[in-house]
Amino acid sequence: MDNFAHLIYGYEKKVETCRGKKRYINFDNAASTPPFKSVMQTITEAAAWYSSVHRGAGFKSKYSTERYESARRIIAQFIGADLERDVVIFTKNTTDSINKLSHYLPWLPGEMIIFTKVEHHSNELPWQNHNHYCVPLKNNGLDLENLEEVLRKNAGKVKLVAVSGASNVSGYLPPIYSIAEMAHAYGAKILVDGAQLIPHRPIVNPPWDDPRHLDFIAFSGHKIYAPFGSGVLIGPRSLFEKGCPSQVGGGTVKGIGPQGIIWNPPPENEEAGSPNVLGAIAIAEACQTITAIGWPALIAHEKRLIRYALKQLAQIPELTVYNAQDQERVGVISFNIQDRYHRDVAEYLSAHYGIGVRSGCFCARRYVAELLSLDYREINLEKPPGMVRMSFGCYNSPEEIDIAVEGLHELVDTIKKAA
Ligand SMILES: Cc1ncc(COP(=O)(O)O)c(C=O)c1O
Repeated sequence: MDNFAHLIYGYEKKVETCRGKKRYINFDNAASTPPFKSVMQTITEAAAWYSSVHRGAGFKSKYSTERYESARRIIAQFIGADLERDVVIFTKNTTDSINKLSHYLPWLPGEMIIFTKVEHHSNELPWQNHNHYCVPLKNNGLDLENLEEVLRKNAGKVKLVAVSGASNVSGYLPPIYSIAEMAHAYGAKILVDGAQLIPHRPIVNPPWDDPRHLDFIAFSGHKIYAPFGSGVLIGPRSLFEKGCPSQVGGGTVKGIGPQGIIWNPPPENEEAGSPNVLGAIAIAEACQTITAIGWPALIAHEKRLIRYALKQLAQIPELTVYNAQDQERVGVISFNIQDRYHRDVAEYLSAHYGIGVRSGCFCARRYVAELLSLDYREINLEKPPGMVRMSFGCYNSPEEIDIAVEGLHELVDTIKKAA
């Protein structure tokens, strides 16, 4: 069985536990992925030739400019963007990309935003001060009939439907292409928050004239094995030509004349200051590594891991998994153990087994609260509720799952003995 561990930089690192040194097991990939070795090698090579991009006359500057611009083309190809009409803007991360897009809302038609209950705060809070609607859940997924009804009632008034490509809480995959079709039928655009989708499934963006086309896509390098501080926002070039850039400064200005400032065209107008060249090159290299591995092998491996983990976790009666069992999803599994605070479970796995998992609300309070049947506005801030989250990367293995499950069994036994 493939597990691609040989592709990961730092995979073999050991950490101190209360039972001695153990190889670190990272089940926190939804938060951040380690770098691919290929990414490390590429940025080390590019760093030797690094110089600031665009306006330098020197060889290194021209080299770095070419690498930076070629990273845009590679990423465009990876997600099916049409560079005649779309622009690839380098940002800091998904959060930065979505905040940037929110600056352009006045230039989209309509006056309302729709987001959903499964959103990360990064795809909720930037829209909070606009007239908005949050699509509820139904049957372990989004209530798409409700979405359509709201779109119908507000036809022509909805600027944007902002939806995750995959949930960072349950791995749920909203049907983004059907949602795009629905949004377009009522005159709205769609933004896909691709932070969790990008490392797990191909984004095959249909052409512009296809109703299933995704208008905007945002994602982060650090979720796709390129953790060097870069992210991406992709969208229609014509939109980013409107108004004043979201941040102003060096690189954004073409000229200053008697009539005022003439802004550079996108993407330069949206990349104020010296850009993160190596971060951009890192993302492009990660896209190429994923393409070289091939999606079928990656998806098959992940599905095996999910199936195996769910089967093993089901052997622990005191453990509740919040994912729907029968759903197509990416490798994110959230659970709780009866009578044990989520944070304590995560600390136990770390202290005894050298396993990294995440606990809490994962910046998705609305969704987590609903899965826990709580009102998210009445949450105890001293001891916030939450879950434990195991999230898989392409390099994880069933043997690692066995170690985590052994730790969870042991913890449950300890709780029972103490009771
Ligand atoms: C679904 C989703 N959207 C957005 C983000 C924010 O990503 P970043 O912190 O890279 O901006 C995350 C991070 O976990 C996420 O899981």
